[in-house]
Amino acid sequence: MDRKIFLKTGLGAALASSISPVWGKSKHQNTPISDYDISDWGKIRKAFPIKSNINFLNNGTMGITPYPVLNAINESFTQIAENARYPHHNNDLETKLATLLGCSADEVGITKNVSEGINHIAWGIPLKKGDEVIITQHEHIGGCAAWMRRSQLDGVKIKTIPIGNSAEACLDIIKRAISSKTKVIAVPHIPCTTGQVLPVREICTLAREKGIISVLDGAHPLGMLQFNLKEIGCDYYAGCFHKWMLGPIGTGWMYIRKELIEKTRITHVAAYSVNAFDMSAEPPQMDLPISKVSRYAYGTFSGPHIQGCLAAIDWYQHVGPDRIEKRVKELNSYLRKSLENEADKIEILNANDIQSQGGQLGFRINPTHTTEINPQQGFVNFARKNGVILRYVGENKVDCIRVSTHYYNYKSQIDLLIDLLQQYAWKSGNKR
Ligand SMILES: Cc1ncc(COP(=O)(O)O)c(C=O)c1O
Repeated sequence: MDRKIFLKTGLGAALASSISPVWGKSKHQNTPISDYDISDWGKIRKAFPIKSNINFLNNGTMGITPYPVLNAINESFTQIAENARYPHHNNDLETKLATLLGCSADEVGITKNVSEGINHIAWGIPLKKGDEVIITQHEHIGGCAAWMRRSQLDGVKIKTIPIGNSAEACLDIIKRAISSKTKVIAVPHIPCTTGQVLPVREICTLAREKGIISVLDGAHPLGMLQFNLKEIGCDYYAGCFHKWMLGPIGTGWMYIRKELIEKTRITHVAAYSVNAFDMSAEPPQMDLPISKVSRYAYGTFSGPHIQGCLAAIDWYQHVGPDRIEKRVKELNSYLRKSLENEADKIEILNANDIQSQGGQLGFRINPTHTTEINPQQGFVNFARKNGVILRYVGENKVDCIRVSTHYYNYKSQIDLLIDLLQQYAWKSGNKR
């Protein structure tokens, strides 16, 4: 088919508009991160290939990829394909990540996602039948499945707690839930349901005082909030690069406090877990696993994804962690205020004290203000049809709409969301 004719047809036009720059030559392909103009948010937004008609307010599910990350991945795959040189494991990423987290490089390891980290942790802590693990009623399945499985297989007792309507209330609920059988408190730093930030430093201090192990599911904070693992004082933490850090999909990390590395049972081992082995010896020999959390990064790994994570950290540093946190929170508070203008028609689920604020908000349309039968799910579908991507939270019967505000979002996108809400739920005489 003639190329011009093809492009004029619907299919051709659709394909042309969806061809990623990476297919051809990526925009900014050779631009070093330090050369990106970050003088204002409009310029920063230019570093994102996302199409301008997509209003992506669901970073809590997946971060969108900026060019520096896309280019790093692409370049690394290309290098392998052209030169037949595959990357060897070194500790560059662990080192860079550890600096960001305020811990030592030996205390962090790379995983493919948060669920994997939580699994290594939950299966590694010595627990026996009847021991209690406290989790919340707001868990993501990736944060709680391993504990639930330990309950099914080993008789560990899972106690669930609600989330309070302030940092103080959250802590109080946990205090009251602790019993003499409690061995682990395993809660999200930021639950996936509403995005309310939990008072993790206070929770971990409480756990330590009581001789209880603290485990944090940190799927969300990295790239949104600044934090230091030593200041938080947790024993274990599992995070990822693919949400707020805007790294490659399928990349995560885990932290184990140094003193606990050897006390944590490790079952999955391979290359990178041990230094030496000899199956020709009699009996066959294998070293004990190395005393670093990178012992969990067993087997072949995706070098291009590691390059993407390194670029994501560099990009994050270039834009500025402090500036990012301020922007994320500012957009979120703009969202809250806009929703509060409709206070009689909606219910905001997040606490409103300063400590509990982050980059996400969960709310419900008050059923008395709409004729829709499933208004929360219905609105998320309606918004999507109108170019606004949100997350419907149906898990654990939370039944809410979750909005994420990352720094690449604009106030005008929040205005659009409010406009759609009015059209969908309460503008009289509206036809959908
Ligand atoms: C709080 C929380 N924990 C765990 C997960 C699972 O993360 P992953 O897909 O990286 O395993 C998610 C994913 O959304 C989450 O929000």
